[in-house]
Amino acid sequence: MARILITSALPYINGVKHLGNLAGSMLPADVYARAMRLLGHEVLYICATDEHGTPAELAAAAAGMNVREFCDKMYAAQKSAGADFKMSYDYFGRSSTPSNHALTQHLAHALEKEGLIEERISQQVYSVDDKRFLPDRYVEGTCPACGYEKARGDQCDGCGKLLDPIDLIDPYSALSGSKNVEIRDTNHLYLKQSEMAPRLRAWIDKAQGWPSLAKSIAYKWLDEGLLDRSITRDLSWGIPVAYEGEVRPGFENKVFYVWFDAPIEYIAATQDWAEEFGGNWQSWWRTDMGAEDVSYVQFMGKDNVAFHTLSFPTTLIGSGEPWKLVDKLKAFNWVTWYGGKFSTSEKRGVFMDQAIELAPSDYWRWHLTANAPEGSDAGFTFEDFAARINSDLANVLGNFVNRITKYAGAKFDGKIPSLEQFGGGTWGEAEDVLVAELAERLPKMIAYYENMEFRKAAAETRAIWATGNEYLTQAAPWSQYKTDMDQAAVGVRLGLNLVALFGILAQPIIPDAAEKILDAMNVPKDNRTWNFGDNDWSGQIKAILDALPHGLEINAPEVLFAKIEDADIAAWKTRFGGEG
Ligand code: 2FM
Ligand code: ZN
Repeated sequence: MARILITSALPYINGVKHLGNLAGSMLPADVYARAMRLLGHEVLYICATDEHGTPAELAAAAAGMNVREFCDKMYAAQKSAGADFKMSYDYFGRSSTPSNHALTQHLAHALEKEGLIEERISQQVYSVDDKRFLPDRYVEGTCPACGYEKARGDQCDGCGKLLDPIDLIDPYSALSGSKNVEIRDTNHLYLKQSEMAPRLRAWIDKAQGWPSLAKSIAYKWLDEGLLDRSITRDLSWGIPVAYEGEVRPGFENKVFYVWFDAPIEYIAATQDWAEEFGGNWQSWWRTDMGAEDVSYVQFMGKDNVAFHTLSFPTTLIGSGEPWKLVDKLKAFNWVTWYGGKFSTSEKRGVFMDQAIELAPSDYWRWHLTANAPEGSDAGFTFEDFAARINSDLANVLGNFVNRITKYAGAKFDGKIPSLEQFGGGTWGEAEDVLVAELAERLPKMIAYYENMEFRKAAAETRAIWATGNEYLTQAAPWSQYKTDMDQAAVGVRLGLNLVALFGILAQPIIPDAAEKILDAMNVPKDNRTWNFGDNDWSGQIKAILDALPHGLEINAPEVLFAKIEDADIAAWKTRFGGEG
């Protein structure tokens, strides 16, 4: 049994997340967490809202609220959206908590003592009309790289390039629209990432569990020469630049940069979890206090990779303290919306709170996992969504469960046929084929989960369900029944055990439907784990296929998956403006 620490990139507080955000961090992290728990590992899955920085301030201003109240409201909204999508967080924290303030200040102080922080004068955009500096997203203008006219100061949405606000062409204030802006000097703290580059490179060279996407992004930044990075901002909302309760002189009106404190919240949220639930946070994060045997896995979109492979490790390694670093990292490409972009600021696409009004969370979980943006971007359309749900969930899984449980209800009293009553059937070729197929596919499916290959894990799960359908077609208990009830009982017994197995295997991706199935089959909670040994798969499969006690009463679950109709698609496209 391993100890697995899982974090998914912290969603910005500025709005409920869209399906693309969900598919590229929280959902796969949750699917992985569930699978690893089923395999018997000790899992701690931590997430939180990312509450500082200009996105929070601007969104609060747009909503006409003060920032703290806005964050309180949006935290509640995001927490409930997570619950609606069945995120099995062990803790869902907030980066604005006292614990994150304290830890962020502690780490900055440690970095400063290690000589890795330096105060420098830099140039910033200042708005004369707004009477303030305009960090990051407070300033917009034309991207110097691609010419996109609404580039934000920190990053261009047109080409994705990270920007420095002073590089924007024709800058203007995002607050007032004023073009009366000038470049002024201001002092900031710089994290000397350039000094850390050799140590980071050595660490990345050794990293084993990173996909090529993550490694290539990290090397690209190292090869281009890692720049020192300013970790403070001229803002009022955020973590004060103070050490041991004393504001650092000259930093009275400044706070730490959101990207400095956000990843630290992974640790601070674990502290809050420990405080609330009596856990031991050090055993997950301090390699001198038990974390050396933890496997730490991070999930994120590709735009977050540099921050997680370079910036955050600089903070942790540079502090000179024994912090746990990421072991495996899973990075995702984008989900596209009818070939274009999902966009929070332009409200394009479907957002989590809206999606849940359209269809049950399992539908989204299944589609977004089976179509995960793993190797490349993955397109989302309502048409594809409906086709996959109707085929995989309604036809393949739903029909199988429905067919055999109803039949058992009608012909075998709703019970697992017992050997005493129906002992004369024999094990034949169809059964052998089924066992062989499952013995091959089940370990493969588990390996896909372990390797975080989610599309393949879903495809394998579906293939296993399809195997069941093929078996029932072959065994055809309904035909056998007329002449040989004992033989029909073999197919029914096996079919019902397959239903239970399918429910057990479906749990990471579609937990609600899986629970309905397992409840209907009266499978005790303790028997729902993936406690398979790892050799003699055939022997185990045979045992699994006769696991339900003979004579046990089972029910046909209510309709598991209603089909999505063309009329639904049409209505959704009208509401959300999909084109296709
Ligand atoms: O890109 C984002 O949505 C950021 N809020 C992710 C932060 S991840 C972490 F480091 F906190
Ligand atoms: Zn650009």
